[in-house]
Amino acid sequence: MVGMTRIDKNPRRGANAVEVRGLVKHFGETKALDGVDLDVREGTVLGVLGPNGAGKTTLVRCLSTLLVPDAGTATVAGYDVVRQPRQLRRTIGLTGQYASVDEKLSGWENLYMIGRLLDLPRKEARGRADELLERFSLTEAAKRPAMQYSGGMRRRLDLAASMIGRPAVLYLDEPTTGLDPRTRNEVWDEVQRMVAEGATVLLTTQYMEEAEQLANELTVIDRGKVIAHGKVDELKARVGGRTLRIRPADPAELPDMARALAEAGLDGVSGSQAVPDEGLLLVPLLSDEQLTAVVGLLAARGYAIADLGTYLPSLDEVFLSITGQKPTATDADPASAEQTEEVAA
Ligand SMILES: Nc1ncnc2c1ncn2[C@@H]1O[C@H](COP(=O)(O)OP(=O)(O)O)[C@@H](O)[C@H]1O
Ligand SMILES: [Mg+2]
Repeated sequence: MVGMTRIDKNPRRGANAVEVRGLVKHFGETKALDGVDLDVREGTVLGVLGPNGAGKTTLVRCLSTLLVPDAGTATVAGYDVVRQPRQLRRTIGLTGQYASVDEKLSGWENLYMIGRLLDLPRKEARGRADELLERFSLTEAAKRPAMQYSGGMRRRLDLAASMIGRPAVLYLDEPTTGLDPRTRNEVWDEVQRMVAEGATVLLTTQYMEEAEQLANELTVIDRGKVIAHGKVDELKARVGGRTLRIRPADPAELPDMARALAEAGLDGVSGSQAVPDEGLLLVPLLSDEQLTAVVGLLAARGYAIADLGTYLPSLDEVFLSITGQKPTATDADPASAEQTEEVAA
């Protein structure tokens, strides 16, 4: 976690808060970033989607001045990552995949200490700690050492810490990796609140679903390269959106159901697929309306449905459809990826 004091200058409307051009970072033979271009418009959330080892954390570290890129340029709020690191750091907040609060200190002490490190006067640092603990539902746990916090509480404390300095631009590096679904939803709610309040967010994630929930636009990276970029809906449509999975009460009716759907020619519904071995009918969907139409048609024709559900394409499927190949399984070592290279400021 690196929280920073706020930039005085008001953000320029419609401008890019983050601009990255041809960014390259090598670690020995590994091309962690291999010429990355991306923009994050002010007041929006850019999702950076990619598998383990794609280069997401390296990107965030370069944009936080924790790593010096080998080539290319990057600016945040108009500040150059290499030439203006101090000013840049004052505009950003960073929440890492691995929470880095001080275990022995209480939640309140962690936040107060960060406020003081950011040169806030004592009174303001106290006020900010109280306010953020309240906001992240940690008031009751404020005096307990962070080591006693659950994973979700830790992540919320980490988010709170990144916001002490009211950063104009927030980096969230896999903010929900390893969290259970309930806690994940809590974090999503918080991020949505920050965005509603005007924050610009660069969010890295391995989950299509998370990108869908939070991001306006999506940049997909693999092996240090941007392989797709677009609005979330556009990419989803390219990938095929959700799939409806229907289990008929009588598996013998599967072929008839598939035929009935094909003949009905429902708007935008095509290519349903019967999987007799599993007793399932799979229907690619692009909208909720299509789901209602498909289920309504089958019910109207008198087919009994025992079970149904929808599922999103997995990250593998997204990659498969965008690149025609599976993401490369790099065995990225979280420990080594967390090592910080010293940077002259
Ligand atoms: N400090 C480092 N030293 C050596 N290799 C690294 C370091 N940090 C990252 N890498 C390598 O760079 C690649 C990208 O890693 P990373 O940016 O952590 O990916 P991601 O965050 O998308 O999982 C991986 O192959 C990883 O092993
Ligand atoms: Mg990472």
